[in-house]
Amino acid sequence: MLKEVTVTRYITPLREGGSLPGLVEADDLGTYVMKFTGAGQGRKTLVAEVVCGELARRLGLRVPGLVTIDLDPVLGLGEPDQEVQGLLKASGGANLGMDFLSRAIGFDALAFPVSPEEAGRIVWFDALVGNVDRSWRNPNLLVWHGDLWLIDHGATMIWHHNWPGARTLAERPYDASDHALAPFGPDVAGAADALAPLVTEDLLAEVTAEIPEVWLAGEPGFGDPDELRRAYAEQLLARAAVIHERIEGIT
Ligand SMILES: Nc1ncnc2c1ncn2[C@@H]1O[C@H](COP(=O)(O)OP(=O)(O)OP(=O)(O)O)[C@@H](O)[C@H]1O
Ligand SMILES: [Mg+2]
Repeated sequence: MLKEVTVTRYITPLREGGSLPGLVEADDLGTYVMKFTGAGQGRKTLVAEVVCGELARRLGLRVPGLVTIDLDPVLGLGEPDQEVQGLLKASGGANLGMDFLSRAIGFDALAFPVSPEEAGRIVWFDALVGNVDRSWRNPNLLVWHGDLWLIDHGATMIWHHNWPGARTLAERPYDASDHALAPFGPDVAGAADALAPLVTEDLLAEVTAEIPEVWLAGEPGFGDPDELRRAYAEQLLARAAVIHERIEGIT
């Protein structure tokens, strides 16, 4: 289970994020980037953040630490900005928090060279989860302490928006031509050799166990949250075995 903390102060919105994530302080004295259940994209975005973030971390990629943040919607009352107030009021209960990487800078391909090995691992991982949000226009990669960090995994696993058709969706190839790391000659074959064997049933059970139960409840077609957890795991397990042959758009 992810660590659970409670918001003590809403600091400021991060205006560059489409979903209006906020910077908050919590009762463990941590500073977090908070993503709200009440945001337009809904709780599946947060499920995707947890599954992808916890999987990437276990594959040795750098992802800021994740927590669940409890929010008392009363906090919204003191917020002058209408949009922020609405978001806070609509997001009572468990939200997602991510360790704030203070003074991290956005990845710039011209200023930060990436090895074919590291590029390959990230492209392979993005193909596995079907990430459409790592393009050169919007890389969702941060440079912090001289290393690359992965953020923003909300737009992944498109199949969880349509479980009856999930298998077909998961068989689709991954188009990496716009990927922020495509110019670095990503070694996806090497990445697949190193990472695919790590994506086991046990590892995926561990990863999906981290999804807060309240974000899984009530999914049509599923008896209980654990059944839904298994569906996430099965998709990724099947995809891990074949995805390297279905990455298009890189040489
Ligand atoms: N853990 C973090 N540490 C430091 N800065 C962060 C962190 N997470 C996000 N940011 C900053 O906030 C911005 C918005 O975050 P993120 O991309 O996750 O939000 P989003 O609403 O999903 O964005 P998008 O507009 O890409 O859909 C990032 O581009 C980055 O500048
Ligand atoms: Mg983003």
